[in-house]
Amino acid sequence: MAEDQSVITDENFDSSQANDDKCIWTLDAAKTPHPRPTSFDQNLMFIEAWEHLRRSVVYYKGQAVGTMAALDNASGALNYDQVFVRDFVPSALAYLMKGELEIVKNFLLRTLHLQLSVKGIDRFALGQGLMSASFKFLHSFKVLHNPVRGVDTLIADFGETAIGRVSGVDSGFWWIILLHAYTRATGDHSLSHRPECQNGMKLILSVCLAEGFDTFPTLLCADGCGMADRRMGVYGYPIEIQALFFMALRCAVHLLQEDDGKELIMRIEKRLQALTYHMRSYFWLDFQQLNNIYRYKTEEYSHTAVNKFNVIPDSIPDWVFDFMPMKGGYFIANVSPARMDFRWFVLGNCVAILSSLATYNQSMAILDLIEERWGELVGKMPLKLSYPALDIHGWSIETGSDPKNTRWSFHNGGSWPGLLWLVTAACIKTGRPEIARKAIELAEQRLSKDGWQEYYDGKEGCYVGKQSRRLQTSSIAGYLVSKMLLEEPSHLGIIALEEDKKIKPTTITRSTTLPTKFRGYP
Ligand code: GLC
Repeated sequence: MAEDQSVITDENFDSSQANDDKCIWTLDAAKTPHPRPTSFDQNLMFIEAWEHLRRSVVYYKGQAVGTMAALDNASGALNYDQVFVRDFVPSALAYLMKGELEIVKNFLLRTLHLQLSVKGIDRFALGQGLMSASFKFLHSFKVLHNPVRGVDTLIADFGETAIGRVSGVDSGFWWIILLHAYTRATGDHSLSHRPECQNGMKLILSVCLAEGFDTFPTLLCADGCGMADRRMGVYGYPIEIQALFFMALRCAVHLLQEDDGKELIMRIEKRLQALTYHMRSYFWLDFQQLNNIYRYKTEEYSHTAVNKFNVIPDSIPDWVFDFMPMKGGYFIANVSPARMDFRWFVLGNCVAILSSLATYNQSMAILDLIEERWGELVGKMPLKLSYPALDIHGWSIETGSDPKNTRWSFHNGGSWPGLLWLVTAACIKTGRPEIARKAIELAEQRLSKDGWQEYYDGKEGCYVGKQSRRLQTSSIAGYLVSKMLLEEPSHLGIIALEEDKKIKPTTITRSTTLPTKFRGYP
């Protein structure tokens, strides 16, 4: 980007001061070691949600170890009877906020144990650091030897049985984030300091920090490796994974013990610097930046290139020009050579706010965009997982004509109440809880009446999804967490990270894109 073009900088903005007035969450207040009553304990929908959540709990050897993805097996369990790592996050937060810690601790230790299993597809051995996307409880009877006593087993899925055989890159990151949340909620470091936890973290980090052929600090991923776990055209550098990667790295810095992790911490900190710069500069889109890209020259060679990824302005889809408000902005879905995927994905943007990957100004702009485009992004049921839906041509190419991901359905522009907690947390962090309150009120009009659906279809999210499950645990837990966060904003300290003062503000000018030797530095 040239100096005369919009320069993304937060140098002149003291966000710590800006936050001071609005900061309604602190770390200490997050510690909730005992069951806490809430004023919603008399609220029927809240009570109902807790009952469903408790019914979804999976036990192993008498211990609660997680929550099932959905209680509705009417249309065949498929894998909805499993405990998904990503789906368990809102359940875990609800339990932590309530002061019920055991289930979270057990989950963290069980998944850690499963991480060490031998895993592979056909004759290919999968990386040791991989965390399973999900696991299921199996009880089999030992008929021959002992007809009464059975054997309990937990069976993990690292992608070997998943549709498309893709492993969940997000699982390891959510695991680290959850370990951090547990530590914050309890103030107890003894779990994270256990050698097996330190080792588990290192294994996850060794997979994603391994040197390869990369020219960017972002993480190269296969399609379907995150929440959208089917082909959706998000291969490359999807925002969801990059934001979770950033957040997990930051949590790991807090959790790793210095004595034998010093070198690793230094590597992480270097990567964080580079990742922050890359994401804030190249993934960020607002009115000004859109205008810059629209006027890009192409085929630029050498270090002075402004259009580094050689994005052809004609590839900008028409909808972006209508969608982009004068006030607001967001991290786009993906950036790679000659490819900018301009779609909006809510999860990555909210995690960017919570982890402080987004600057204060960018966080504000993301919420401005949600307000400005309320009809499109929230509609009748919060919230659109992605926007807009792929058109018929895009759908056939990007999803491979996936019948579950048709236009405005499921991952392709469907609305997911299970994401409500993330937006609520993002709103509270930026001091704008009223936006969350409006979204929660919308959800309350239908969620319980419709049986706690997994997702809604249609441009405005009016219709219960074609293949949506009832009693979807993430919708139930997401609602509970949203309500508890709004009532007690200090809970945010469990999940949100303050700005890292060690990360340099991002100022992109033509000269800073040059390698040091060309800038005349020693
Ligand atoms: C669907 C969703 C995935 C979720 C799983 C279990 O496959 O795409 O994100 O984890 O269901 O609820």
